[in-house]
Amino acid sequence: MTFSDDEIKERLGKYGAVYLPSEIKESIDDILGNESKKDRLEDFFKALKKYEEISEQFKKSNLIPNFTVLLYGPPGTGKTSLTRAFSKKYNIPICVIESDRLVSPLLGDTIKNIRNAVELASEIAKENGAFVLFFDEIDAIGSERSNIHEVGEIKRAVISFLQVIDRINYEGIPLAIFGATNHQNQLDSAIWRRFTFHLKFDFPNYTLRKKIIESFLNKLKNMKIGIDETIYLRLNEEHEKIEKISKDLTKKLGHEISEFEDNLLWKEFEKRYAEDGLLKLTIGYSGSDIERGIKVALFKAFHTGLLTYDMFYESLKLVGGTAIHVNRQDLLSTIREDNLRSKRSKLSIEGPPEI
Ligand SMILES: Nc1ncnc2c1ncn2[C@@H]1O[C@H](COP(=O)(O)OP(=O)(O)OP(=O)(O)O)[C@@H](O)[C@H]1O
Ligand SMILES: [Mg+2]
Repeated sequence: MTFSDDEIKERLGKYGAVYLPSEIKESIDDILGNESKKDRLEDFFKALKKYEEISEQFKKSNLIPNFTVLLYGPPGTGKTSLTRAFSKKYNIPICVIESDRLVSPLLGDTIKNIRNAVELASEIAKENGAFVLFFDEIDAIGSERSNIHEVGEIKRAVISFLQVIDRINYEGIPLAIFGATNHQNQLDSAIWRRFTFHLKFDFPNYTLRKKIIESFLNKLKNMKIGIDETIYLRLNEEHEKIEKISKDLTKKLGHEISEFEDNLLWKEFEKRYAEDGLLKLTIGYSGSDIERGIKVALFKAFHTGLLTYDMFYESLKLVGGTAIHVNRQDLLSTIREDNLRSKRSKLSIEGPPEI
């Protein structure tokens, strides 16, 4: 007996937000950049649609195709939106489980909630076909950040979560489990290992920030607000300047540098130019920060009828970037990982795949 849309919403709605494909607004192209992750997710969702066929094939080698993905990285970098966009493209309903509805201060309730949510989603997937269960802030299960402070209880919640993941992997149900976290360092290593795919999200670099800004500006074309053309011109100019510095530094140092590493690029920028621009201002901004900056600017432009460069600059400045709020430990480990990766590639030893 298949579940109706209303039944799915009513029963799973207790644990999070259920999105039917027709209700999802974002598309994959709305999240710019992240090409290698999109490529992996494309493979993943295509395979999920052909669940039985892929399971049969894997079985021939005694393997089980675990449909589990861990997305990690700073807030506002597209983890949830991109997954929802893929669910829409592949016509698969998704439930985004909110950790605060799962984690309870009452002994045993967290475990019960985890089991109930996964069991329900498994039943839906068994009856209706592929389903995605997305655990937001998965680190809250079994970390000090959760409301449960008794160590034994935290451990039991982690174990319970691992058991349900293992079970659905073995049962041959087309249920994909996603986990998302901003605190990869606080995530229990056993949970980490249970996910087949680990996809890392980052703050956008200056080239991607330019594309994100331009794409948001292009979306404003249907509004009755004019956009000062100098915004585009100055963005191009600033981008060219940064590119030139980046090339000069690469030549001088003998290797490419990231704008987030050692601040070399921006120190050089400051030496050469007195004035900064939108791209320099938005170092450490997420896509979501840029979106908020546009919205703040629009509240002003709505009254004046024209979005100017200065209005946009001031609004982005007001909003601020997420990087300054990110746990230093998480940021450092990300940079260490990147350094290791670039050192490995310099030595021509194959590093971890760039996913
Ligand atoms: N690369 C990007 N290109 C365009 N827009 C982006 C990009 N990254 C983020 N955004 C914008 O930010 C919004 C919020 O992103 P989303 O909620 O998916 O982030 P998240 O990584 O799930 O954050 P959190 O960790 O806080 O849950 C998106 O809907 C989109 O509008
Ligand atoms: Mg999210």
